Amino acid sequence: MKQTKYAFIQSDLSSVQLNQVIIAAQILCAGGTVAFPTETVYGLGADVTNPAAVDKIYKIKQRPADHPLIVHIGNISHMHYWAQAIPESAWKLANHFWPGPLTLILPRNHRIPDNVTGGQATVGLRFPAHPVASALLNALGPKKALAAPSANRFGRISPTSAAHVYQELGSTIDMILDGGSCEVGLESTIVSFHDKTLQILRPGSITLSAIEAVLNSPVILAHNIDQSIRTSGSLPAHYAPTTPLRLYSSIQIWPHALTLAKKDLRVLVITWSNTHKPKFSDQFIEQFSMPADPIIYGKQLYAKLRQFDQAEFDYLLIESPPDHPSWLAIADRLQRASYHSSNNN
Ligand code: TXA
Ligand code: MG
Repeated sequence: MKQTKYAFIQSDLSSVQLNQVIIAAQILCAGGTVAFPTETVYGLGADVTNPAAVDKIYKIKQRPADHPLIVHIGNISHMHYWAQAIPESAWKLANHFWPGPLTLILPRNHRIPDNVTGGQATVGLRFPAHPVASALLNALGPKKALAAPSANRFGRISPTSAAHVYQELGSTIDMILDGGSCEVGLESTIVSFHDKTLQILRPGSITLSAIEAVLNSPVILAHNIDQSIRTSGSLPAHYAPTTPLRLYSSIQIWPHALTLAKKDLRVLVITWSNTHKPKFSDQFIEQFSMPADPIIYGKQLYAKLRQFDQAEFDYLLIESPPDHPSWLAIADRLQRASYHSSNNN
């Protein structure tokens, strides 16, 4: 069986580690796939200029071919090598937030193969901040870029460590660069510039108000995204563990837990506030307290969901996050993670 290469790379890359990054770049140039860390989640990368390599990503992820991939670049100046008719506001956002957790949806040019964008006329560009991602992009040089979705199977939880990538995709990929746990833990904020209207297609750690402050103009949060645009992260069901997951308010969560426990179902109640397991609750109910700070909560969320998913609970009940802009990305991911289980019952 094929062996997946593995390399642990610290953020202050030594020359030995840089060699591993160069091996990864060689694998990519030869049409292979490499998982690499970014500050948001791990990506599964292929050479954007090689359609056969890009096809491997869809196959490995079991992702429908009409769901576009984000193209990762190593410098702001590379933006116009891949995109055209770039609006002034996109340059402003890039200059302010890049390298960082922001993806800009821009008109693509002829250098982007059709299968990267699912045939769409636009391309999502992102300049990631993680030093290992930067080193890899630098090793590839200015005329290449990394087409890379999150390194998980379609519809599942994004990986925030190299171990998650290996558990999920294992030997289907050629190499994993291990850069430790991801700093942000939630996928990038996606902004589109369609018809001169700025829209956030996917909320992330860069908030709507932070974007408005840079542009000094209003930005819309796309609630009812046109489903003809295949933004997989915007499908109602996504980022999901296999254990049914439901969201309830602080008041509703305990009565629901009790109802399930009475049917001998094992329930994990995941809270962020200081609500406590009531005295009446029984042995089938366990509680896990998440941090009340959205930045720390966001960083831990996916790793915890994976851990809970393996713990053989029948249900995960999550306390709805506060209705505050700083929790928006978390609320968005939790709603999508709970979609199937809420609708099946
Ligand atoms: O933080 C991130 O964005 C991570 C890291 C690896 O960079 N990547 C990531 O990729 O989350 P992925 O493929 O799992 O999610 C990217 C989202 C998808 O929902 C995709 O449909 C959307 O971006 N997208 C990509 N290109 C697009 C385009 N041209 N128009 C609309 N949506 C696009
Ligand atoms: Mg994804």
